[in-house]
Amino acid sequence: MAIFYDQTNKLFHLKTSKISYYLLINEIGMLQHVYFGKSLDEMHIDSLLDLGEDWSRYYLDAKTKEEKTYQNVYVNHSLFEIPSFGYSDKRVSSIKLESKCDNKTDFRYVSHKIYQGKPSILNQPTFRNNFSDATTVEFTLKDITKDIYLLLAYTIYENDCIVLRNTKLINNSEDSVYLTKASSVVLDIPRKDLLLTHFPGDWCHERQIREDLLSEGCKRISSNTGRSSHEHNPFFFLSDKTTTENDGDVYGFSLVYSGSFMADFEVNKWGQTRVSIGINDEEFKFEIKPTATFDFPEGLIAYSANGFGDLSRELHDIIRKNLIKIPSMEIKEEILLNSWEGCYFDFDTDKMLSYIKKAKTMGVELFVLDDGWFVNRDDDTSGLGDWYVNEKKIDLKKVIDLCHELKMRFGLWIEPEMINQKSKLYTNHPEYAVGNPNVDRYLSRHQMPLDLCNKQAVDDVYKMIANILDNYEIDYVKWDHNRTIDFGHSQCLENRQGEFYHRMVLGYYDLAKRLTENYPNILFHGCASGGGRFDLASLYYFPEIWTSDETDPIQRLFIQYGTSYMYPLITMGAHVSKNPMTSYLTKAHIALFGTYGFEFDPNKLKENEIEELMKVNDIFHKYHQEVISEGDLYRLYSPFKSNYFSMCSVSKDKCTALVLFMNMIKETRQYRFLKLAGLADEKLYRNDYDNQVYSGKYYKEIGINLTRWLDEFTSILVVLEEV
Ligand code: GLA
Repeated sequence: MAIFYDQTNKLFHLKTSKISYYLLINEIGMLQHVYFGKSLDEMHIDSLLDLGEDWSRYYLDAKTKEEKTYQNVYVNHSLFEIPSFGYSDKRVSSIKLESKCDNKTDFRYVSHKIYQGKPSILNQPTFRNNFSDATTVEFTLKDITKDIYLLLAYTIYENDCIVLRNTKLINNSEDSVYLTKASSVVLDIPRKDLLLTHFPGDWCHERQIREDLLSEGCKRISSNTGRSSHEHNPFFFLSDKTTTENDGDVYGFSLVYSGSFMADFEVNKWGQTRVSIGINDEEFKFEIKPTATFDFPEGLIAYSANGFGDLSRELHDIIRKNLIKIPSMEIKEEILLNSWEGCYFDFDTDKMLSYIKKAKTMGVELFVLDDGWFVNRDDDTSGLGDWYVNEKKIDLKKVIDLCHELKMRFGLWIEPEMINQKSKLYTNHPEYAVGNPNVDRYLSRHQMPLDLCNKQAVDDVYKMIANILDNYEIDYVKWDHNRTIDFGHSQCLENRQGEFYHRMVLGYYDLAKRLTENYPNILFHGCASGGGRFDLASLYYFPEIWTSDETDPIQRLFIQYGTSYMYPLITMGAHVSKNPMTSYLTKAHIALFGTYGFEFDPNKLKENEIEELMKVNDIFHKYHQEVISEGDLYRLYSPFKSNYFSMCSVSKDKCTALVLFMNMIKETRQYRFLKLAGLADEKLYRNDYDNQVYSGKYYKEIGINLTRWLDEFTSILVVLEEV
């Protein structure tokens, strides 16, 4: 057991080899936060909890009407796990409930149990239940005035640095209550000078890195677009100002959720920081009927004392181990060609056959037919919702047969959560489209979201897509989502429209669960106009996601660099496109630090360009799985902070490494040594750049000599192998 309970102090210690998380049941039965940080066995509660302010210890006992004192509870500035709302704690709230009388909440301890494994939640993605090394403490809490209960579970994995929080609300009262704020994680940190690193962006500009020093007041990062969004991503870090890649305290936060989220940061007058993350509370009002329950999205907090790089590697490991599920490594490690940027909607059977034949000569192993293959779909104005092959345009069977004859696999694009007005589905079921039919609706890319609150709509789309998957031999599906959700209104929710956005997310999970579970051998690849839904919940279903529609390799460096703070390289869809910014060699180097694939018309490449790609194909086959997909990432130069980009990925056994270096400006005679990280000090490695053998320590302390003329946007890829 890695969770210890000290009954005398009512103190819980959640302990892994890397972290300790302490909390206790205080004198009034609230869960009080004690400590989160480095693994620590020594804890002196009395001195830690004493905040020294006598005047805030006095209470009037409701029963005896006598004055009483609590020694170590300061309702407005102790650290809490589930803060009360509407009483004395005036910091940012975590749970709000509208009931007949008020919307106050104050949950107090009833009981707890400690067990191996995780709580199982059936309707939402969470980190997987790995019984062998997961331990959970689950508290039952009850509101002080209402028959509303919370099951609050904390799970740790023995050798990891994260704590997962799962919350279930149970209505045992006789009336409906309405949940209007649902935070999955609250962390009170007893200090104020923290640096917030977050990842805002836009379409084609996802996950840029921004740093804000928190100070008194509130800051909110959020998405209200119905998806985790291009604009913000539900993960961020809090650190010391001095924390670097390799050193210093850093806390990570994330939410296993694909919908609109909010993250509030508040620094108060006592010099404390409260972080509260959950479902976006704007437009959120969820009815919980008597006896019904509500599951909050799973929340994650993580800690490292060794800088951003270490925390990212820890997160990558846990995501690979306990979240993503890959049908087979074989299909995951194949070179793909996607048709989209090669021809968009403009193709027929012959053109696709010629793509496939040419692609085969370029080492392609998986061909993906993107948008445009289904009825009424020659541009983006029509067709979504009618998932039937357009036989006049494409002989799909012939295309798939050729792939399989050539020992290639075949993949198909779908966008199941959308509907065009010009479609049979809309003509027959206008109520399947999101929006109030009496109000003008914004048609982004001519399309409307499918109403996923409507079970029948989800079932109908499921059947159409299952029919395609049953009748064609499909190995890979690219699942797209090309607009934000707005005009939020479901015709089947009547006066419960406050449930709309969350129910849309549950509908997405339902469809994704059914398709991925019923077709377990298909590799599902997620996409939302690029990286508009790159989040932990989507990764649960889709082990890789198209990182961005931006295929300009230089912009990609920034996007992939920011994305790597949370998400492992194996999850990042990355393709070589026809974008002219750099040579094909450089484009391929950058795509190699993701899933690696192509997205162009293969017939248009010149021989020398194909040769460049073939060189990288060889490296891909030899090293990608071990070094990039399963290895450890070390960020060496941030393009956000210097004129260089550099990353190094090292195999787990530290025998092999791939290093990518790129300069952003032309430099003629710069003194430049690239210091590496992650190698074993004592091992000797030959690098294929100057063909020298040095020790890991030498590469770390001195590095590879890159002092020579470098044009802008010239990449250098170095392979290191132990000798
Ligand atoms: C989105 C995707 C692209 C492509 C198009 C097809 O923009 O991000 O990769 O699939 O849709 O319409």
